Amino acid sequence: MEVPVLKDINLCVEEGEYVAIMGPSGSGKSTLMNIIGCIDKPTSGTYLLDDVEIEKCKDKELSEVRNQKIGFVFQNFNLLPRQSALDNVALPLQYAKVPIKKRKQKAKEMLEMVDLADRVSFKPTQLSGGQKQRVAIARAMVADPKILLADEPTGALDSKSGLQVMELFDTLHKQGVTIIMITHSDEIASYADRVVKIIDGELYEGDAQPVTGGDEHE
Ligand SMILES: Nc1ncnc2c1ncn2[C@@H]1O[C@H](COP(=O)(O)OP(=O)(O)OP(=O)(O)O)[C@@H](O)[C@H]1O
Ligand SMILES: [Mg+2]
Repeated sequence: MEVPVLKDINLCVEEGEYVAIMGPSGSGKSTLMNIIGCIDKPTSGTYLLDDVEIEKCKDKELSEVRNQKIGFVFQNFNLLPRQSALDNVALPLQYAKVPIKKRKQKAKEMLEMVDLADRVSFKPTQLSGGQKQRVAIARAMVADPKILLADEPTGALDSKSGLQVMELFDTLHKQGVTIIMITHSDEIASYADRVVKIIDGELYEGDAQPVTGGDEHE
């Protein structure tokens, strides 16, 4: 059985933009994010990323696009539990076949960027939530992607750690990274330049709200 999740979505994000996606649970935010991140393909319609028609790509091309252009950050960090912070951050460079010495050097620089130079050999269990998320951001950005996608990056964090994550996003945004972030928090969304809402699979921008009760003249 097919359940339509997203309906007639039309979204254009410019290079360098910082967009927040909000909306109720189950409304389709993560589904949209997975399409933007080339994890899923839309069942209909088209998705252009840098003029490439993503829905026509083979899985191999898709994973190449993903590895080169996109960094992901998740609510629950998704770090490998048995690997050190350094090895977690270096992992995307292993996929990109960067030599090991260069991988470690770059991963170390990234951990310095997120202020964790003193935690390189710590495992995820030895890190706080905020530290884990900063490791995850270092990993997301280690291969210099142009786009950072974050699905509720502060959802599992206390407010202080959440603000640290937002400061890091601001720094990346100033460096020209395009950021698309899902959040339930108005405060977190206010860091973005632009907020879009998804309600029941439909996209609304600005003050637009879904029309209820069928009154078209309202
Ligand atoms: N793999 C799947 N197979 C079938 N239906 C799915 C799948 N993943 C999500 N859905 C359905 O798609 C709808 C939207 O889910 P999605 O995860 O995009 O919501 P969300 O807006 O991210 O919610 P939340 O805020 O709770 O994370 C839900 O009704 C869900 O049941
Ligand atoms: Mg979700």
